[in-house]
Amino acid sequence: MSKEKVVLAYSGGLDTSVCVKWLQDEKNLDVVCVCGNVGQEETGLDAKKRKALDLGVLDCQVLDLRDEFSDEFLTKAIAANSMYENKYPLLSALSRPLLAKKLVEVAHEFGATYVAHGCTGKGNDQVRFEAAVKALDPELKVIAPVREWDLKCRPDEVAYAHAHNVPVPEGANDNPYSIDDNLWGRAIECGHLEDPWNEPLDDAWVMTKNPEDTPDTPTYTEIEFEAGKPVAVDGKKMKLSEIIIALNKISGDNGFGRLDLVEDRLVGLKSRECYEVPGALTLITAHKALEDICVEGDLLKAKIKLEQDWATAVYNGQWYSPLKNALDAFMADTQKFVTGTVRLKFFKGNCHVVGRKSPFSLYDYGLATYDRDTTFDEKASAGFIEIDTLSLKTWAKVQGPSSAAAQA
Ligand code: ARG
Repeated sequence: MSKEKVVLAYSGGLDTSVCVKWLQDEKNLDVVCVCGNVGQEETGLDAKKRKALDLGVLDCQVLDLRDEFSDEFLTKAIAANSMYENKYPLLSALSRPLLAKKLVEVAHEFGATYVAHGCTGKGNDQVRFEAAVKALDPELKVIAPVREWDLKCRPDEVAYAHAHNVPVPEGANDNPYSIDDNLWGRAIECGHLEDPWNEPLDDAWVMTKNPEDTPDTPTYTEIEFEAGKPVAVDGKKMKLSEIIIALNKISGDNGFGRLDLVEDRLVGLKSRECYEVPGALTLITAHKALEDICVEGDLLKAKIKLEQDWATAVYNGQWYSPLKNALDAFMADTQKFVTGTVRLKFFKGNCHVVGRKSPFSLYDYGLATYDRDTTFDEKASAGFIEIDTLSLKTWAKVQGPSSAAAQA
């Protein structure tokens, strides 16, 4: 009788290589690996595929997901100015639902009973993988080896790998950090960073230059948007994945895009995280500036509130959920007229918006100007204030600080 099958989210690193062996030996399963390219720095995906095949997996599918990630996920993140707790642009939270979707597709292709991932039991990513899998196919079962096995730390895993003929990547014990990266940026945690009082060391950063070592003259860049989607940088039309790569370079070279923060994980603990998100922060900064002139004021205020709900839903693994779908529909509606160009100035770790224009701009020079020929009727403001403060005046008379009630 043939064995049951499991589809594993495989990165080719130590954790997921040990997962392959563990699923084969401890669970007696045939393993199919899925290795998604979402634009991570890590290269050598072919070598990783060979490594998986050497471990005896049924198949190892290396999928180039960069455009799907950009077009289906990052476009929505930009529309929602994605920023969890107003500070974290959600890079890991955005890639997990796409990887989970691929796991489910490959599970169907191979008739697998299980999907598996290498996430730990105290992070958010386990929730994101599993919630997405449940939403896409509630019948599929999930195995999380790292939650089950007794390998407490990296040296334990290295020892397991040696004992079971799993090749250990060169320097597997050297990197002091836990890294997750993709087109949208790079997350750095653990090691020296676990004490929130410790300043990040230089070796934490790879996408961004130390602002002290950046050019002494500013760099200007123009980003063009059409209906909320970035379409060109400095006049050059590019697809979104290329725009992000280009902006990661321009902003990173100017030292922009480093974050050092403490965030609230879904599982209830606070964690210190450093992020490098040069392209993501640049695009969100520019996109917000364009919305400022293209989105009507009441709508903009409502959108800013709902952006937090969108980010929380995505952070918490609700990418495929009715709430997130409805919020996406709202966000999409707000983007219809977000077309135009934003001019940015990078200098020594900063990125400032220095210009914005749009064919649909609601900024009316005639209304805004303090010149004599303004079209704004200042006399009308007296009546406006009279009516607008009616409720406040009524309150002031009856309950306000100088009212008889307050004096009593
Ligand atoms: N805290 C972030 C999140 O939950 C990043 C997690 C990334 N994982 C890592 N191994 N550094 O989205």
